[in-house]
Amino acid sequence: MKFRAESINQYNEFYTESMEQTESYWAKRAETFEWFKQWDEVVSGNFNDLNVKWFDGGQTNITINALDRHAKNTPDKLAIIWESNDPNEEEIYFTYSQLLKKVNQFSNVLKNQGVRKGDRVCFYMSMVPELLIGVLATARIGAVHSVVFGGFSAKALAGRINDCDAKIVITNDEAYRGDKIIPLKNITDNALEDTPCVKTVLCLERTKGKVSMQAGRDQWLNELLANASTECEPEVMNSEDPLFILYTSGSTGQPKGLQHTTAGYMMWASETYKNVFQTDDDDIFWCSADIGWITGHSYISYGPLLNGSTQVMFEGVPTWPDAGRFWKTIDKYKVTHFYTAPTAIRALEACEAKFVEEANLSSLKVLGTVGEPINEEAWNWYNEKVGKKNCPIVDTWWQTETGGIMVSTLAGVTPVIPCHATLPLPGVELMLVDTDGKEISGNPAEGNLCVKRPWPGIARTIYGDHERYRQTYFSTYPGYYFTGDGAKRDENGNYRITGRVDDVVNVAGHRIGTAEVEDAVNEHKEIVESAVIGIPHDIKGETLMAFAIPFKQSANAKELLPTVNTLLVDHIGPIAKLEKIVIVPGLPKTRSGKIMRRVLRKIAANELDKLGDTSTLLNPEIVDEIIAAMKK
Ligand code: WTA
Repeated sequence: MKFRAESINQYNEFYTESMEQTESYWAKRAETFEWFKQWDEVVSGNFNDLNVKWFDGGQTNITINALDRHAKNTPDKLAIIWESNDPNEEEIYFTYSQLLKKVNQFSNVLKNQGVRKGDRVCFYMSMVPELLIGVLATARIGAVHSVVFGGFSAKALAGRINDCDAKIVITNDEAYRGDKIIPLKNITDNALEDTPCVKTVLCLERTKGKVSMQAGRDQWLNELLANASTECEPEVMNSEDPLFILYTSGSTGQPKGLQHTTAGYMMWASETYKNVFQTDDDDIFWCSADIGWITGHSYISYGPLLNGSTQVMFEGVPTWPDAGRFWKTIDKYKVTHFYTAPTAIRALEACEAKFVEEANLSSLKVLGTVGEPINEEAWNWYNEKVGKKNCPIVDTWWQTETGGIMVSTLAGVTPVIPCHATLPLPGVELMLVDTDGKEISGNPAEGNLCVKRPWPGIARTIYGDHERYRQTYFSTYPGYYFTGDGAKRDENGNYRITGRVDDVVNVAGHRIGTAEVEDAVNEHKEIVESAVIGIPHDIKGETLMAFAIPFKQSANAKELLPTVNTLLVDHIGPIAKLEKIVIVPGLPKTRSGKIMRRVLRKIAANELDKLGDTSTLLNPEIVDEIIAAMKK
């Protein structure tokens, strides 16, 4: 495979070349793609002016590289094996040639609905093939997809639709999710009461459950697809034309729509997939993420297809009909590369051992993890029970903002160190800084993780709010991209990510901003104010708890919890539910009124010796009262 690092020496050469001859390094790789027009300049812009461009002047379409060229060269190669939620429902296979036709049909449906280049198309679907096909179709006609995870509430969906001014929403009647049914169309209907921008809804029939269809707005997708032409010319896209928007949570305010652009993202999804996973022609790749998250975008929708791989797409959940589902599916399709999240690994580890032990799993060659730091116990279990100590584990660190993997072992090429993401990929220049913003050089080191120079996959902006983009990522350490994560670097330069250092909590691999959760909690009629923090959880990694000031100090936390959680499910979704509430008379605040969540985290962890200096708080006396409340 072209430009794949296949030895540690080659990795080192690639890395050095990417740093020292950046332009020619990426130009060579860009030449492996098909372009309507060659680029003028490989890279321009910087982190001070925030005007980063890759392959500017070039024109392409990501789908000609993900689909057309394979449909031409290897038309009968399998692109997708779709596995239903129900193991008794037959799987669906798509070759590259079939997938291209399906995408073209969907493209024509979108065009017929008046969707044009640059328009935002919102997907609120489960992991049905039409989600993947629709995303690719959107890209093919030059529109911008915004996929909203099917676990978000109507309010959260409405917020995302309005923020990007989507004119069309595509959903399914209902979603199968293990033994549950999620009424996606109903939720969409509720969301659309508040979204004047949406003129059209396309609804896929999946469960045949009863839904109401609004005349003039809603249409059945199945019929439209069946009648559409299988030919559709791809739109000519400039390198920096937007490809998609994806919402994610941050320290402050409501979720932000990170915008990724065409050519740079294409390069990053493709290169990182190729180098990290090292799949060969006959391999079967399976990323168990949902396309509603960035992992599903980069390692289902784009990375594997750009490399002409065969992959499994899974509609269901790991524990239904039983906790052997992942392992049976791996055996069924002889999956060689399996990529999942630590939270899933821990959940399955907690189930009866027979499920994993009864499986064969001998097809596996490479295992991957993503989404949160993996703990040693889960790492060992994954290595021994799933990989039979025979599969390198790639611990891949990256973010919605980075577009693709930034730090990871390259499978079989660079060393694996338990619980370490290890080395940066070519093109990624990292730096650790102390709290004063000074670079910590030398090894070993520990600090806040920043990236020093633009890489092709970086999100170019927050949709509609470039100033917030600057504030969020480039103001803490001007001139550098700040990740929000802390990391350690060992003697040999290997990175171990220690977790978020800001007010973002990682619940079961899902990013949640404490501010959004507090906004919802504070709407509760019995609560004056709250502060939300993450606390350790055996399976989810972290879970949420709130310190709440009620109107009546006699309020009972246990009684409040269910109604607060109802509110959170309504505002955000089930992932935002609180584990517990502690009633407090006040919250620790700085003199400027900022809640000191750091103090609360130490109190919750019972690390009272690490509270630091609390005497400068506006209300230092509150600390002892909170400690007492916590003990109750
Ligand atoms: C965390 C997911 C440790 C990290 C691709 C990051 C990780 C956030 C790892 C991004 C890993 C992701 N080890 N932590 N291998 N991968 N994270 O945007 O805190 O949903 O900042 O992207 O997940 O989450 P996001």
